[in-house]
Amino acid sequence: MMSTSSLRVRPGRVSDALALRDIRLEALADTPDAFGETYQQCAAWGEELWTLKAQEWNFYLLERDGRVAGMARGESHNERPDAPFLFAMYVSPAERGTEAARLLVDTVSAWAAAEGVEALYLYVSTAVPRARAFYIKVGFTDTGADLAMHRDESLVCAEMRRDVSDFAFHVHRVEPMALYDLRRRVLRDDRPEVDVANPSDLLESTLHYGGFLGERTVVSASFFTTPSPTPPHAASYQLRYMATDYDVQGRGLGRRLLEQVIGDLSRRGSRELWANARTSAVDFYTSTGWRIIEDSLHVSAETGIEHVVIHRYVDRSATPD
Ligand SMILES: CC(C)(COP(=O)(O)OP(=O)(O)OC[C@H]1O[C@@H](n2cnc3c(N)ncnc32)[C@H](O)[C@@H]1OP(=O)(O)O)[C@@H](O)C(=O)NCCC(=O)NCCS
Repeated sequence: MMSTSSLRVRPGRVSDALALRDIRLEALADTPDAFGETYQQCAAWGEELWTLKAQEWNFYLLERDGRVAGMARGESHNERPDAPFLFAMYVSPAERGTEAARLLVDTVSAWAAAEGVEALYLYVSTAVPRARAFYIKVGFTDTGADLAMHRDESLVCAEMRRDVSDFAFHVHRVEPMALYDLRRRVLRDDRPEVDVANPSDLLESTLHYGGFLGERTVVSASFFTTPSPTPPHAASYQLRYMATDYDVQGRGLGRRLLEQVIGDLSRRGSRELWANARTSAVDFYTSTGWRIIEDSLHVSAETGIEHVVIHRYVDRSATPD
């Protein structure tokens, strides 16, 4: 029988605090000279502090078949607040020499591109030549700057940068399966038992769009042909499963995806769009031309979450004031 192995990198959540602790302690024990913190320091942190770190840090977990096997952080540096840095990069020994480390770096590069900057930076200790060789392989170059580690000035770190212009945001049609990971993680709490496939996903009339930063899918949206819930019940698309990945929310990517697909929907004869929107996301929709239908508050039978019905005209000039 053929065995398939799954590899993914995802933004970490507060609920990952203990997984974050375990992989960070593994990294500090494995390669002490690579990092500014020490194993002794971090092993003394209690669960509460790790929970706080999981809240504060923009961190990513690499998972092989659902088991955490690596991590990285993407944040600005205390001394360089204007530049996004890659920190705490680590993959478990079994994952070295595979595509895992590149996938982590590409995921963090996509986040840096969403910050609207040209490059992702890092500091790499001269004591870890394998790491430096890896960074050169994936396109980092020396900036010429260096920094001694605070805890041990004999450990010198070279600053490197990677151009992230290849990670510019773009939108295109995709097969529904390409969106299932985002649907599950962002809309279904990453619950493995939930079926995120919709029976109508494979209908020829259903359209699926992905928003990408490089090859990373960061926004999902699917449009199903269903009549509008408002008179005169015109031909319309129902938007479902709109989701933007956690680390790049609030940067206008969802809005940009909708703007880009609306022309396509109009050419396909749609005059109106409608959706059941989570009340928590209503502000996003109303700021992008959608209106809430009066008295439409209801609880979704599928998720138990409160929704309202919203709609918008495809041609915004048709929107009545
Ligand atoms: C740094 C790290 C993420 C890189 O991931 P990786 O999967 O090991 O990287 P790769 O194997 O794809 O690339 C490493 C390159 O270094 C080369 N290399 C291996 N050992 C080396 C050594 N001792 N000196 C120099 N180069 C070495 C490899 O041959 C490879 O190059 P190649 O693919 O052209 O042959 C991983 O090694 C790691 O987690 N190390 C421990 C933590 C660490 O050092 N983090 C860096 C913090 S800045």
